[in-house]
Amino acid sequence: MTLKDSDTKIAELIDAEARRQESTLELIASENHVSKAVMEAAGTCLTNKYAEGYPGARYYGGCGYYDEIENLAIDRAKRLFGCQFANVQPHSGANANLAAMMAMMKPGDPFISINLASGGHLSHGMKLNASAIFYRPSHYQLDDKTETLDYDSVLAVAKETKPKAILCGYSAYPRVIDFAKFRAIADEVGALLMADVAHIAGLCVGGAHPQPFPHAHVVTTTTHKTLRGPRGGLIMTDSEELAKLINRSVFPGSQGGPLMHIIAAKAVAFGEALKPEFKTYAAQIVRNARALAEGLMAAGYRLQSGGTDNHLMLVDLRAKNEAFTGADAEKALEAAGMICNKNAIHNDPRPPKLTSGVRLGTPALTTRGLKEADMKQVAVFIDRGICAKDDPAELARIRSEVAAFAGKFPMPH
Ligand SMILES: Cc1ncc(COP(=O)(O)O)c(C=O)c1O
Repeated sequence: MTLKDSDTKIAELIDAEARRQESTLELIASENHVSKAVMEAAGTCLTNKYAEGYPGARYYGGCGYYDEIENLAIDRAKRLFGCQFANVQPHSGANANLAAMMAMMKPGDPFISINLASGGHLSHGMKLNASAIFYRPSHYQLDDKTETLDYDSVLAVAKETKPKAILCGYSAYPRVIDFAKFRAIADEVGALLMADVAHIAGLCVGGAHPQPFPHAHVVTTTTHKTLRGPRGGLIMTDSEELAKLINRSVFPGSQGGPLMHIIAAKAVAFGEALKPEFKTYAAQIVRNARALAEGLMAAGYRLQSGGTDNHLMLVDLRAKNEAFTGADAEKALEAAGMICNKNAIHNDPRPPKLTSGVRLGTPALTTRGLKEADMKQVAVFIDRGICAKDDPAELARIRSEVAAFAGKFPMPH
């Protein structure tokens, strides 16, 4: 029986969501549109079975095909990132980070990272997260003038707190991360370096951002952002000793049975990312981000750090109008058919629920085939949408223009 026949309501809602995705412009930096092949693998009979354990050492019978699938996912992940070991079982990026921390540290051990407000992720030591409940985070800072990473601050905080682990990799950082510099600091204080490349993974493997290996001891990532796979996590290392600890920390340390349908979809996405076309895609993401950034700056907005080197940008709305908030802009843009999220700007005086900025990214639009000239048009739509925040009629007008524009760029097939 099809879904439509067995559960009309859910089928209708899924159809409505598909139409929403097609008719709007997805500007959330952490989202993407997966290929039909990835989607197909995720929706298979592989959801039926338990495969607790690892290939060749399962706690359930009947896992022969699962072993082959998981081994393929592991091999492809290792080839993509150029490393020795990969664990493809984490259900999400946050799960990957928790397991990586369990492998690197004992409860109560200190680590350093950037804080949430400066572009970090909640799994990097936000006070309500397991990373801060079980470990002891301290935070390094962005440079106030350049609004980019301040490696002197990283070293100073590391020397002061003697961390077991140093975390780099961010949720809202538009510039290149110097993994070699981070490794030098980690070596100086005897810490392990963990690079969470969740956001930039696709750029790293596509040649549009330096790779975290061989510098990082442990690399974690999500598989669903620039890497364009199903929702999930991944942990890698070059150290046999850490690999054993990581495997143990994922299962049985923090998870039970792996989501094998998702692991199959990860394998498919990794296979796509190994193809030469993915390099073209990664380069286009960055070119599109630069074009969007230029368009927005020309319209009077300021970008944190003055621009972008990767797939995302932080737009400081105050340069356009002191009264504009991130919350207002997010709402207005959604009404105008453009989806983004409010985001704090460095040293933002407004609270996190309001903020003075929005975070915009180009991975999803690049998947739909938009190029630099199209991004200039997107910048015009964004500016018009934000400025029309109190004008519902104008927002509706923009929304229909945006829908017509989006219609020219098909979803992946
Ligand atoms: C840097 C970073 N790490 C980890 C995560 C967590 O990923 P997930 O939402 O899959 O748990 C995110 C999510 O946005 C992220 O930006």
